[in-house]
Amino acid sequence: MASVDSLPSGAVTPASERLSRPLDSIDIPHKQVKKICCLGAGYVGGPTCAVIAYKSPNVIVTIVDLNKARIDAWNSDDLPIYEPGLEEVVKSVRGKNLFFSTDVDTAIKEADLIFVSVNTPTKKSGIGKGYAADLGYVESATRHIAKVAESDKIVVEKSTVPCRTAQSMRKILESNGKPGARFDILSNPEFLAEGTAIRDLFAPDRVLIGSLDTPNGRAAAASLADVYANWVPRKQVITMNLWSSELSKLAANALLAQRISSINALSAICEATGADVDEVSYAVGLDSRIGPKFLKASVGFGGSCFQKDILNLVYLSESLHLPDVAEYWRQVVEMNESQKRRFTQRIISSLFNTLTGKRLAVLGFAFKKDTGDTRESAAITLIKYFRQEQAKIALYDPKVEESQIWFDLAEPGVVDDVTALKKQVTITSSAYEAAAGADAIVICTEWDEFRDTKLDYEKIYATMNKPAFIFDGRLILNQKKLEKIGFKVECIGRSRLEESFE
Ligand code: NAI
Repeated sequence: MASVDSLPSGAVTPASERLSRPLDSIDIPHKQVKKICCLGAGYVGGPTCAVIAYKSPNVIVTIVDLNKARIDAWNSDDLPIYEPGLEEVVKSVRGKNLFFSTDVDTAIKEADLIFVSVNTPTKKSGIGKGYAADLGYVESATRHIAKVAESDKIVVEKSTVPCRTAQSMRKILESNGKPGARFDILSNPEFLAEGTAIRDLFAPDRVLIGSLDTPNGRAAAASLADVYANWVPRKQVITMNLWSSELSKLAANALLAQRISSINALSAICEATGADVDEVSYAVGLDSRIGPKFLKASVGFGGSCFQKDILNLVYLSESLHLPDVAEYWRQVVEMNESQKRRFTQRIISSLFNTLTGKRLAVLGFAFKKDTGDTRESAAITLIKYFRQEQAKIALYDPKVEESQIWFDLAEPGVVDDVTALKKQVTITSSAYEAAAGADAIVICTEWDEFRDTKLDYEKIYATMNKPAFIFDGRLILNQKKLEKIGFKVECIGRSRLEESFE
């Protein structure tokens, strides 16, 4: 029998054997970056370049956007996005080496290095509708650079794009650029997660830089690597070919979303059998090959990226005539939709098979805690289902603006929908106000303030219709404690206590 010592350790093959480029491939002469411009002052461009300015006092960073209101907000006390720690970073460097502006031309002209951080939403029409990424914003930003630039620029693809987009950007720049202006394209996908963006940017797991394997390409990668080296350990800055870098971003999001859909698929089995998904995920997460992160069952993933990037991968697979691969990844998105339908069905059946006229207190509208972002939030779909069942909805979220909620809930193009909406949905200013007179509480976002250690659920129980239900779509509540107060508690991935086989 083999001794334990002689068994394979399971260690990952070292980088030197896996990466086509040695880690020292960028130890070559290169230009120092002194001025950076970022096109796109959104959830990625804003925090990323603010942190670059904060960590690199010798670099001047200008973040530009076509949207004046957004730039005005970045220049005000009320930043356009909420992210823990962001305000401190911005306020400490704004006006010193960090600037927000709508003067795109000047920022492009003056910069040595330009980040393209514009939006790449899913296409709404035409070929690839519903799947492919709409690269219109990337193309128009690239054309803008070509038109305005008068000197050499390093152009960095920061937006998430399909494989080989850098090639298209290069063609546009080379065929439209001014004589004498040379462009080097890099791919530098962003791996930050909203809600923890500043933490992720301060201590990234890795920084990925893709470039052409030419002397100019490697020198451009070295210039960008130097910027990150102001705070990221050199060995965590990885360089590789452009296409691997582009695909790595789509792959990372697909794998992360797949874990959520996998645990959510298991949550359905738990609910039907008496197993508890939190216990199952804890047990499997202890296996070091699996690991504990991204195994929390929930009402479904949201955010601007997971669905969009997987659909993008599905489209890419189909374009490459790989239908089985496309179908495999499509199922990750389908499972996410199914989880929302299943949760709604459970609410309906628990509330005696009808929601008509019942008041549901929906707690949370952001797609996850610690962000005000609502893109693809599960709450939007759930509220749509509740409305179809003629429920009355009282909604509370600590960070999302009221105008954003109305925007997300209204059916685009449907006349009078907002009037009908406002008859069915009320936005409240606290969880207590939402729950008063409600038949059920539905937890959609895992905000800490909704936990039973923060909210007074006895007080809430007293104001609700009886029987008072809680549907915990995020597994943040202590079920037994709330049952003791008198609530009927239904949690994702757990069967009803009285029905379990304990
Ligand atoms: P966003 O929609 O918040 O921001 C994009 C900004 O670009 C908008 O303010 C828009 O006005 C601006 N813009 C569009 N065209 C422009 C142009 N030609 N010149 C100047 N500004 C222009 O989008 P977000 O969330 O920042 O995402 C940007 C990219 O980063 C997307 O490709 C996304 O997939 C990717 N990404 C997003 C992450 C996230 O957590 N939001 C994480 C990692 C990557």
